[in-house]
Formats: sequence, structure tokens, C-alpha cells
Amino acid sequence: MVAALRPEQPVYCVRPHVLRETARHFVETFPGHVLYAVKCNAEPAFLDALHDGGIRHFDTASLPEISVVGELFADTQSYFMHPVKQRGAIRAAYGEHGVRHFVVDHPDELAKVLAETGAAPDVVIIVRLATARGAAVYDLGGKFGVSPIQAADLLRQAFAAGHRVGLSFHVGSQCLTPGSYTAALRLAAHTLDLARIPLSVIDVGGGFPVAYVGLYPPPLEDYVDAIHAGLARLDLPEDCELWCEPGRALVAAGASLVVRVELRRDNFLYINDGIYGSLSDLKHAGLRFPMRVLRPVGDRVEVITENLAEFSLFGPTCDAVDMMEGPYRLAADAREGDYIEIGQAGAYTLELRTDFNGFCPDNFVEVGDDAFLPTADMEPCPFLSAAAE
Ligand SMILES: Cc1ncc(COP(=O)(O)O)c(C=O)c1O
Repeated sequence: MVAALRPEQPVYCVRPHVLRETARHFVETFPGHVLYAVKCNAEPAFLDALHDGGIRHFDTASLPEISVVGELFADTQSYFMHPVKQRGAIRAAYGEHGVRHFVVDHPDELAKVLAETGAAPDVVIIVRLATARGAAVYDLGGKFGVSPIQAADLLRQAFAAGHRVGLSFHVGSQCLTPGSYTAALRLAAHTLDLARIPLSVIDVGGGFPVAYVGLYPPPLEDYVDAIHAGLARLDLPEDCELWCEPGRALVAAGASLVVRVELRRDNFLYINDGIYGSLSDLKHAGLRFPMRVLRPVGDRVEVITENLAEFSLFGPTCDAVDMMEGPYRLAADAREGDYIEIGQAGAYTLELRTDFNGFCPDNFVEVGDDAFLPTADMEPCPFLSAAAE
């Protein structure tokens, strides 16, 4: 791609075969419905590849997300998993898009959903439970979810109104400990003890992690074992459905981002994408994405993985906050005109873009090579980092 295009702007290199294979593995390994969390990456090329890999259920949080899925596929189901919804969106989701499952975590939201759907008997109410902060990079518990006592009240209220009900939670994104799911299911068991009604759905949410530099999570199979261990404590009806809502785990490896170095100042590289573009996770979550320098030489491109030094990166905007400290191990002689391939760039990158200062990456090409994943030699050297402080 770099040899052929020498792009001036950042380019997302999409790997549909990786997306298909990742989806297939997840669907085969998880013993229930896999709802892809559309918020993570809603580009049609990604959705198409996931669909090819067997994804038929979509966790959607807004009417535009529901519409994107509905326009692409005729054999899928969307679920309205945002606990706070606009009334018009509820009406359209139910009436025009065939959505039947709605998440709530407040009595007023339950009343809203029932009012806007005419309390139709086929509406299924999923109550979101708050979970303790575990070893997740992003905690989502502070904003959404209720205690077991409040969840039990909501479940009973919806059930008494004639609806099938479910429980959901989210242990936090990039959750590194499978035991967090077991612990959350313990809370679900406590909630059911209080509610004493049959559950139609238990949804263990998203949070399944991927590898970044220095972060190598256990395999998906360990998470499934932990979920089985948690489910064993729950007294569930035979026909209760098990769901999960992965985002990051399905799409991260499905794209690299190729950026260009515009200037080197000491060990700072000024590149053409940053935290207001695709790379906010590098700043806000401190995640170290795998990176390597691609250097055009004549009509070839050298991939430089030796003689590395530690760099920080500046994004293209005028804001001094637009900086990614790293450190990132890149070619010691990195310079203007070099490209940097950033791997694991399919999740929470292009969805979070802004066009602040006129910079908005929007170029896509399809590539057929292997996913670019982190390796141990990308980890910063502790001696060098300490010396720099
Ligand atoms: C309700 C819900 N489900 C699923 C996800 C996807 O999470 P992840 O990408 O960590 O799997 C999110 C992410 O914010 C979420 O809020």
C-alpha cells in the first residue's frame, strides 16, 4: 500500500479475512448469542466481514446504528442496549426496525419504553446491573447500571406488566481478568434471589480484551470458563438465552492505521493523526498499540524492526494535548517521510474521529496480509525509560 500510494493522509488498512476469522472463532467459542457492539466500529466494510464470519446479532445504542445494520442485512437482529434512549428512537426502533429488546436501569426509563412501544407484549426488558470496577482499562460502571435491589425491583415491575425480562452488565472495556465475569454473575445470582422471577436473557456484556504492547490477556476460552463458573450458581430456566456484546475483541485486529512522519524533533515524531483523530485510546487509556516504521526506498518499502529507540508522538492539531507519550519503540533513525504502521487499529479509532483543525482521516484500503500484533520487542526498555525521566 505504502509503495503504491505514498499517501499524504492517514490510511486505514482493512483486513476482512482477519475480521471474518475472528468473528468465526468468537461465535464458535461463546456458548450463546454474540451481539457485536456496533459503537466500536460501524464502517460497512467491518460489519460486512463480521456478518460473513457469522455475526447475526448487533448491540446498537442509537437509531443511526440500528439503521446502518438494517440497511446492510436482512437476516440480523438489533437490540437497543443504551440505558437512556430518546422517545422517538424507541418508537422508531420498535415500529420501523423490528427491535424488541430494550435495556433500562431506571424506573422512568422503563415507563418510557413501555409508553413508546404501547407496552406490546413482545417487548423484552433487559435490566442493567452495575458491576464493581475490576481489572478493566475502561470502567463503565459509574455511568450505568443499578444495585441488585434496584435491579430486582425493575425486573419484578417489568415482569408484572407482562414482559419477558433479562439481566445485563458490562465489566468494563479491555477487561484483563476472566474472574470479573464470574464476580458479576455472582451479583446477578443475588439479584435473582431477590427478584424471584424467571429470567429469559442473561447478557454478560462486552469487555473481552485484545493484546497491546505489554498487555497480553488470557485466551477467550478462559473467559468462557469463567462465565460457565458464574452461570453454575444461577438458577436459570432451560430456555434462558445467554448473550455477550463484544466490540474491541471482534474488530481491533481487523485494521492497521498507516500514518506519516511530518517532522522529527529529538525523540518526538510529529505525525498526521492524533488524539482528535483515530488515536484517542493512546492518550486516554494509555494503551500502547503495536507500531513499526515503513520506509519508502525507491519503489520498495523497508519494514524496520531493528535498531530501535524510544519516541513520543505528537498529533497534527495545534493543541498541545494532542500528544501520545508512549514511549514507542521505533526505528532509531526515524525521519520525515517515513510511515508508521499502527496495529490493532480496528476498535474505537475511526468511530471517535473529529475534524478538529481540519484533520480527519478518512481513507480506507483493503489488504490481505496477516494482522499486525504486538510482540515483546516492542515493549519499552525499563532502563531507558527510567533514564529519560
Ligand atoms: C453496553 C456496551 N456493550 C458493549 C460494549 C463493547 O465493549 P468492548 O468493546 O469492551 O467489548 C460497550 C462499550 O462501551 C458498551 O457500552
